[in-house]
Amino acid sequence: MNLFEAILPSPKNGNFITGLPTMNADPRSPSASAAARQASPAFDLVLFGGTGDLAMRKLLPALYRRFRDGQLSRDARIIGVARGPLSREEFTGKTEAALRQYLGGDFDAGVWGEFSALLHYLRVEATAKEDYAALADLLGSRPDVVRLFFLSTAPDLFSAICREIAAAGIVTPSSRIMLEKPLGEDAASAARINDTVGALFSERQIYRIDHYLGKETVQNLLALRFGNALFEPLWRRGQIRHVQITVAEQLGVESRGDFYDRTGAIRDMVQNHLLQLLCILAMEPPASSAADAVRDEKLKVLRALRPIGDAEALLKTVRGQYRAGVIGTTKASGYQDEPGVDPNSRTETFVAIKAEIDTWRWAGVPFYLRTGKRLHEHLAELVITFEQVPHSIFSGPFSSLPPNRLVIRLQPDEFITLRIMAKSPGEALRLKPVDLALDLGESFKGRPLEAYERLLGDAIQGNLTLFMRRDEVDAAWHWIDPIRAAWATDDDGPRPYAAGSWGPAASSALIARDGFAWNDEQ
Ligand code: BG6
Repeated sequence: MNLFEAILPSPKNGNFITGLPTMNADPRSPSASAAARQASPAFDLVLFGGTGDLAMRKLLPALYRRFRDGQLSRDARIIGVARGPLSREEFTGKTEAALRQYLGGDFDAGVWGEFSALLHYLRVEATAKEDYAALADLLGSRPDVVRLFFLSTAPDLFSAICREIAAAGIVTPSSRIMLEKPLGEDAASAARINDTVGALFSERQIYRIDHYLGKETVQNLLALRFGNALFEPLWRRGQIRHVQITVAEQLGVESRGDFYDRTGAIRDMVQNHLLQLLCILAMEPPASSAADAVRDEKLKVLRALRPIGDAEALLKTVRGQYRAGVIGTTKASGYQDEPGVDPNSRTETFVAIKAEIDTWRWAGVPFYLRTGKRLHEHLAELVITFEQVPHSIFSGPFSSLPPNRLVIRLQPDEFITLRIMAKSPGEALRLKPVDLALDLGESFKGRPLEAYERLLGDAIQGNLTLFMRRDEVDAAWHWIDPIRAAWATDDDGPRPYAAGSWGPAASSALIARDGFAWNDEQ
């Protein structure tokens, strides 16, 4: 299975080879559903953290949708596991309430009736050996189906859960383990987790999740770069002036204040999501689209990132923390007043970084990364600014022309625009920037898959391409750790910014020092 098999329709049957429908096919047509369901293997999915926020908000809705679209075998069991003493009926009731809330119009009572029959629940205290006996009994009745353990718990429980499932004898050679980020809190703790998991599962059984890799537009970036000859000659120093990667959220820390306060934006977002986006944008063309070919190239980018430590960290990074403010018309309280957050917290809720990649392709091209909570807009985008024309033949206001710019918007809407200069209609020769635009929602009428739908489907099918390999995770932490170490010795904490703004003024200054501006400031 390779990446483009996951993206492109198969000429044979019009379905993605993963069993996903093409964007244009109606996945719910009876024949497409029946064929896809038949191709989907029987499986037992054990969901640790089964009553948690991620399970209720994302994982169970994703499984429901895949089931509704005929992508999941009816011979499947989804076993929610958590420490609460729930009955199967209570778990099913909780799931139904969550699906009604998060699926909105997609909830269908008939489908729910069938889907709910797949659900089971077991009370398991992660570290209590005796609690695993019931799980072993349940799984033992079907030793031959694909067995997946999804760990959607705090990362400090990963090692304990792995040890206990191994001790309970429920890890088979074909079992798969799915680990939700963050994987550890620094390079050392990530290595400990990876050592424990690696002693029980081979690398080919480990699915480390970064849900950004499951997003449709991220895969579109791969299609754009490697499905078109046009961009490759331009994709380098000398042609590209600088790159911006922004993932801005309007949301605050919601109910996760306690977790977030121990984590901060650099570990919650940069170590994983932003660096993965950077890798896909900057990697060399892989020799093939097989999982390891792609992951090898991403790893080279991470290893070529110029280290940022000590005094450099204070020049090339900006941390911020939100204060009370207004987002749209809604008042938002300050971070230190959020439930679960230390009132004197120095945890950053905003980060901007100037990253550099020391390779022939990218030497001298800055990559500006920026992410934060309670920002002005909900927006994730990659902005590639090309070099200016070397000499303008036009005079007056057009003697200096703005550079071409490629914008790849991931959310909230998904589009790709290329800004070019064109002549305004009329007698005079006036130039004006205009966008060549590809609206992915409009061009492909089908429903794009949610990230977790794709990732769960890929794991059930055994496709590792969109999951992180251990060495990628290690390399990412090794780049992040020195930045955090430098921050820890800095007397100044994160800079305050008002909720609803674009972050601290120092973030604009960081990029302005090089003569550029963030896309929203232009
Ligand atoms: C998660 C972070 O990984 O990604 C959250 O832990 C963040 O803090 C979320 O809100 C953002 O994901 P998305 O898909 O909504 O952009």
